[in-house]
Amino acid sequence: MNRRAFLPLLSSVALCQYEESKGDVPWVPTPDEVMDSMFRMAKLAPADTVYDLGSGDGRVVIYAAKKFGARGVGIEIERHRVEEARAAARKAGATGRVRFVEQDLFKANLRNATVVYLYLYTAVMAKLKPKILAECKPGTRVVAYQFNGMGDWQPAEVDRTHDYPAYLWIVPTRPA
Ligand SMILES: C[S@@+](CC[C@H](N)C(=O)[O-])C[C@H]1O[C@@H](n2cnc3c(N)ncnc32)[C@H](O)[C@@H]1O
Repeated sequence: MNRRAFLPLLSSVALCQYEESKGDVPWVPTPDEVMDSMFRMAKLAPADTVYDLGSGDGRVVIYAAKKFGARGVGIEIERHRVEEARAAARKAGATGRVRFVEQDLFKANLRNATVVYLYLYTAVMAKLKPKILAECKPGTRVVAYQFNGMGDWQPAEVDRTHDYPAYLWIVPTRPA
């Protein structure tokens, strides 16, 4: 994928923070207020386990743990980001509720997720969609910021109160 072709889609803040990555998407953090809206839209609760696929510096699952009491798993391909996330979790006192795995998100096991968080390009989401629909339990909430790669899978809700839309999908019951 020509990652630079997507740069015009990113915000000016994102552009400033652009860096080369060995993954499919460069690191761009989700703003706190956006995370908050997305988790409210997903009705995040302490019983939930949030999987952030491409977890960067870990802020999403740490926020889910600290503000909503949820558990979280961050999957991240860049080792230095995983180390940064683990350090951030220690600093936030969240190590009992979150963990970070150095892994390609396409190889992660999503069966224990009740909420899946995505801040990934449209094409990456499109490639991930069959895995989400095959592995996630029916009722799992999938939230995504800025990009929608789910094709004909219609979102249950769209929040347009921030710079870019935030989407919520609910994994449907699989046909028998
Ligand atoms: C746009 S950032 C989002 C970071 C974080 N989820 C957030 O919202 O603040 C995307 C992250 O996905 C990671 N990433 C890209 N491709 C990946 C892959 N195939 N497997 C795991 N992580 C990947 C990048 O290194 C980067 O940290």
